[in-house]
Amino acid sequence: MRMRTLSLTAALGLTALPAVADDTQLRELAKSAGLEPVPYGLAAVQDNPVTREKIDLGKMLFFDPRLSASGVISCNTCHNVGTGGDDNLPTSVGHGWQKGPRNSPTVLNAVFNKAQFWDGRAEDLKAQAKGPIQAGVEMANEPENVVVTLNSMPEYIERFGRAFPGEEDPVTFDNMAKAIEAFEVTLVTPNAPFDQWLEGNDGAMTDEQKAGLATFLDKGCASCHSGINFGGQGYFPFGLIEKPGAEILPPEDKGRYQVTKTASDEYVFRAAPLRNIAITAPYFHSGKIWDLEQAVAVMGTAQLGAKLSDEETTSIAIFLGALTGEQPIVEYPILPVETDSTPKPRL
Ligand code: HEC
Ligand code: HEC
Repeated sequence: MRMRTLSLTAALGLTALPAVADDTQLRELAKSAGLEPVPYGLAAVQDNPVTREKIDLGKMLFFDPRLSASGVISCNTCHNVGTGGDDNLPTSVGHGWQKGPRNSPTVLNAVFNKAQFWDGRAEDLKAQAKGPIQAGVEMANEPENVVVTLNSMPEYIERFGRAFPGEEDPVTFDNMAKAIEAFEVTLVTPNAPFDQWLEGNDGAMTDEQKAGLATFLDKGCASCHSGINFGGQGYFPFGLIEKPGAEILPPEDKGRYQVTKTASDEYVFRAAPLRNIAITAPYFHSGKIWDLEQAVAVMGTAQLGAKLSDEETTSIAIFLGALTGEQPIVEYPILPVETDSTPKPRL
């Protein structure tokens, strides 16, 4: 695979020496800044062995709007796997056309985040999945009603049995969340140009992208955005050096403070993952910025106290485009058939 994408000059051994030296040096810098490729293969998750049966069931649940009270909203409504795993809205629209307070982050590569949500309040994907189903502005359902719904369809009963063998009562809200987590483990985007380059293929990134990476590293972006996901690992004040305006950082959303109730956590958020960032506008938890270059410029002043030149913001944004990986091909599942006992939609 990787051989095929080697540039012709590299394959023929014609690469000019200084260029190789530059790539090698830049690669070392990137690695020592903690940047890592998206791994191949399924990541292991805690307390939830990932099996084919669980993944298939989780995929159905992810796409099943009957997990919502209205019967029209599924996980995929706000995390559309065909559009970068998000909804392309400033803030999400859920039950009864209500607008939620925050932008929907992508589910792609979410498995690599240390914790889930903009404020990290869910420790992992199975804990996370139980939130939106119950949130009044999202799917507005109750766990009991979800279990009644699932138990009303024989195919779900059978599939839960196969996904959780040996369990006396496998159709539970917890197991639903575990199956969804198993499916989300498959939603990863390997082989981005940056990853191919990091693994030794000099020709996988353009010179402009490499220059942008050098700027990204030089400015200190990787001090918060590193690891596999270029973020998702640590918490920092949004506005570490200079608070962005109220439009971008609405005063009522105090971020991690709402989780920890610690004063120093006011306006602290998880460093957002930057994988596939070029296809997941709009940006920030408020979703107010549509333009990636502008988002980079905001980061410059807010987090680094550095006014980046137009050239620098453009260059970094071009590099960030090299973080768009191969999107997972997800075949839309045929969902279990309803019966007379399936609860009716509540709109
Ligand atoms: C109405 C829109 C909506 C629906 C429906 C929805 N989500 Fe979300 N999702 C969001 C928003 C908004 C956030 C961010 C909320 C926050 O940080 O407080 C989020 C966060 C997440 C995250 C965290 C990603 C990260 O980077 O931290 C995951 C994973 C996720 N949702 C998966 C799901 C799953 C699975 C379902 C179905 C059970 C679901 N979502 C249903 C809007 C939605
Ligand atoms: C001190 C830590 C820190 C530094 C340094 C930093 N960031 Fe961020 N970055 C964050 C945090 C925290 C967020 C989440 C902000 C929010 O709540 O909306 C974020 C968000 C972003 C976003 C929006 C992501 C999204 O999904 O909406 C982009 C793009 C971004 N950063 C790029 C950069 C670039 C480029 C640099 C260097 C110029 C940089 N960041 C430097 C912490 C940092």
